[in-house]
Amino acid sequence: MIAKLILDKKREGRALGSAEIREFIDGFTRGEIPDYQMSALAMAVCCRGMTPRETADLTDAMMRSGACLDWRHLPVPTADKHSTGGVGDKLSLIIQPLAASCGVAVPSLTGRGLGITGGTADKLETIPGYNASLSLDAFRDVVAKVGVSMTVQTAEICPADKKLYALRDVTGTVASIPLICGSILSKKWAEGADALVFDVKFGCGAFMKTREEARELAVAMVESSKAAGRKAAALVTDMNAPLGYAVGNANEVAEALDVLRRGEERAGEDFVALSIELASLMVSLAKSIPLDEARALCMEKLADGSALSRFEAMVKAQGGDLAKFESALERPVFKFRIQSMRSGYVSGIDAEKTGRVAMSLGAGRMVATDKIDPRAGITLSVKTGDRVSIGTPLATLEKSVCPDGLEHAAAELMKAFSIASESPPPRNLIAERIV
Ligand code: URA
Repeated sequence: MIAKLILDKKREGRALGSAEIREFIDGFTRGEIPDYQMSALAMAVCCRGMTPRETADLTDAMMRSGACLDWRHLPVPTADKHSTGGVGDKLSLIIQPLAASCGVAVPSLTGRGLGITGGTADKLETIPGYNASLSLDAFRDVVAKVGVSMTVQTAEICPADKKLYALRDVTGTVASIPLICGSILSKKWAEGADALVFDVKFGCGAFMKTREEARELAVAMVESSKAAGRKAAALVTDMNAPLGYAVGNANEVAEALDVLRRGEERAGEDFVALSIELASLMVSLAKSIPLDEARALCMEKLADGSALSRFEAMVKAQGGDLAKFESALERPVFKFRIQSMRSGYVSGIDAEKTGRVAMSLGAGRMVATDKIDPRAGITLSVKTGDRVSIGTPLATLEKSVCPDGLEHAAAELMKAFSIASESPPPRNLIAERIV
């Protein structure tokens, strides 16, 4: 009966009280509020929206549906970064150890890839032995010992989100800022980090297609987090072209390792600069120091190998063997190279098309149960703005299981490249800062 009154209220566009939201989510988590009533509320929220206070209450109720971590016993502040997901997005592999090397503990519960969006856990699992499914106790241990851990979110974290997301997926209620905000934030708040930095992406390779939508989500996540007493900031970033050169899993880990090894040399590349900026925001917020100071510290720790050492220590603590990973990279795979058919400048590399081809090769999942080929993927030979001639290599497609489909995938990948006679205007990955 109470559930029905709450549904009537939201359908009429009225704001729900904190206790009403909490009772609804608690009842749903315990199985006392049936799926059809939760779905009806999700649809009413989609159509009527929520105030920032309601969104914060929804997030808080979802966070409290499961385990909430506490890091107050650590001698250093904590921070985490969340990305809304992209193509070639290996940034967490660089950012998290970099922030940790600057004296910030990074408890990072991460995800697996679905669709064109890659998952950090899948990438890390290409390192032989790496355990990306730690128990919460083991996760706490690695964070305390190494200062950074990246593992898949366990079932104890936000069970309400898991149940609600499954309903949203089949009831046309995914596209709602308060619901997306509640879903992402509840998981991040449950992690217990003092400071949160969001990389909210827009463009053809992102969940949010327009800059305006991404900005709206970024503002909602930052404001709700601040309202809940957490430090937060966001960057709204362009995801129209793949990040870096590698799109896949093992090849992305290799690229991230290369950045950690040669950070100073690669600092001018746009995705490396974005990684440094996100890590700097984490360090600045968590340690309450000016952004310029945090940026200088990040540059120093990237250049002197401290960030690399943190990454190596995390991999070791989670059972991974980087030497085996690097020797496995030498094993042959099936390859197909594509070349430019005309002269000019690369004016665009469509992230969505690139992501789809990588997924078709086996680098990603169409459905959650699909298996990943760790060596499948694409390595770009050029970036937007590069000059090319007829025959200049554009990219190499790889897969390890069998060569079937490589030629068709290569033809599809050709469609991702735009070659123009004029050099395109320089592109800035960071469109906006929300602080
Ligand atoms: N990612 C999430 O975790 N939840 C959403 O609702 C959308 C994207």
